[in-house]
Amino acid sequence: HVTAVVLAGGTGTRMYPASSDQRPKQFLSFGDGPSLLTRTVERASEVADTVYVLTRPDYADAIPDHAPDAEVLTEPAGRDTGPALVYAAHEVREREGEDTVMLCLPSDHSVEGDFGSVAERACEVAADTDALVTLGVEPDRAATGYGYIKPGEEHDGYYTAAGFFEKPDAGAAERYRYNGFLWNAGMFAWTPEAFLAEARRGDLAQLVKGVEAGNAESAFRLAESVSVDYAVLEDAREVAVVPATFEWDDLGAWDALVRVFADAADDDGNVVLGDALTIDTEDCVIAAGEDQHVSAVGVSDLTVAAYDGNVLVVPTRQAQRVREVVDRLRDSE
Ligand code: GDD
Ligand code: MG
Repeated sequence: HVTAVVLAGGTGTRMYPASSDQRPKQFLSFGDGPSLLTRTVERASEVADTVYVLTRPDYADAIPDHAPDAEVLTEPAGRDTGPALVYAAHEVREREGEDTVMLCLPSDHSVEGDFGSVAERACEVAADTDALVTLGVEPDRAATGYGYIKPGEEHDGYYTAAGFFEKPDAGAAERYRYNGFLWNAGMFAWTPEAFLAEARRGDLAQLVKGVEAGNAESAFRLAESVSVDYAVLEDAREVAVVPATFEWDDLGAWDALVRVFADAADDDGNVVLGDALTIDTEDCVIAAGEDQHVSAVGVSDLTVAAYDGNVLVVPTRQAQRVREVVDRLRDSE
């Protein structure tokens, strides 16, 4: 029995100005078609018996617009994925029983290819062992925005993980890649108890206690924000990794569009979303939101994005730095 838990409570800072606190990126579609969240729920339904969407209170009302058939789980307060998944594990165990496997899926990914069989394998491993099962993607660059997994002993269709390293600096990322580590795809499979047992051993111990005692509200009020990667996976005793053979990308920052929409780029290598005019412009990402129009002349390697009258211009190679913009804007609010 598989219970999908689709994570949809992040704010998507680096996709400013397309994303904002009021319109996080999981609600956006980037191009035509349904939102990232809708597409994730569709993928989840292929594999799971029940699908929950896990989110923070601010976004709960908007979820049914994107996932009419999924159940909504609302954590008491936004504290990042560590606390959110503790809350989800407790609720899923109560509602679906302790033998179900939770398949946790972020809603900010682009996935093409055979997702179903890889996810099924991950769920089998989670059911057969007490491991926290991750999906591992072969790196094609020394990305610093991902977790890295060191594969250990090989088993039938999976590896025991010999180490988990969240968001390394550039030097470490280069070393990890050279040494055959895999990217953590951020998709996990585990039984509720396997996860809670690991969470009880670290910084989330108090939170687990509070949630299990029925005091989720106050436990969340006191909890610090921390991602599941730092709070649980880095120190977990038993982590396994199933190789992810499908095409995968995290739509984390604007530079991801260059990879995800490579096939849809124009003859000059520009990825254009929305209403735009380009003249002598090469290898740019141009994104115009509703009622916006963007023109670019004689530029290259830039991202220009205009949404709601907010305009961002950044060399695409520095797209990760959009986080700095959002931090400044929040400070000045
Ligand atoms: N319910 C809930 N509550 N969901 C949240 C919250 C929260 O407070 N914060 C973030 N999320 C959701 C996001 O909407 C997203 O779908 C997912 O959790 C992952 O969060 P990100 O903030 O996008 O994480 P990341 O991309 O920086 O890092 C994670 O994913 C990488 C791969 O995409 C890590 O697991 C990395 O190790 C991994 O490589
Ligand atoms: Mg992400």
